[in-house]
Amino acid sequence: MYTEKVMEHFRNPRNVGEIEDADGIGQVGNAKCGDIMKIFLKIDENDIITDVKFLTFGCGSAIASSSMATELIKGKHIDEAVALTNKAVIEALGGLPRVKVHCSVLAEQAVKSALFDYATKSGKVIAGIEDYQPDEDVHDHDDEQL
Ligand code: FES
Repeated sequence: MYTEKVMEHFRNPRNVGEIEDADGIGQVGNAKCGDIMKIFLKIDENDIITDVKFLTFGCGSAIASSSMATELIKGKHIDEAVALTNKAVIEALGGLPRVKVHCSVLAEQAVKSALFDYATKSGKVIAGIEDYQPDEDVHDHDDEQL
């Protein structure tokens, strides 16, 4: 049911923890499954993400998705990070069961929320998330065709 990659990131998640003096923090949650994901970003003067950490209270797919999402945006420019999609996270994980697609959506939205927080605090404008609001119910994404 789960790919080796998902199991590997679940058992051995990358970038777990908090960043005390984070430049951007994003938290998203889902009322139906009760899962919560928090992402911390450290961003340098050239808008490069130099460090990223996450805390996820949630299912194995949410932990694997957060782990993979942090790996995909680490060292990237904020404009690249904002383009991260849940589909890219799923692809990098080698797939997720359909009912777990929303777990990857939480990861995408946690990253975008953290970038939005950074933009708000720093007075910058990040194209694509000028007035970002995470979806109310990410479970709607479970029916999407991949
Ligand atoms: Fe909701 Fe995984 S079951 S985030």
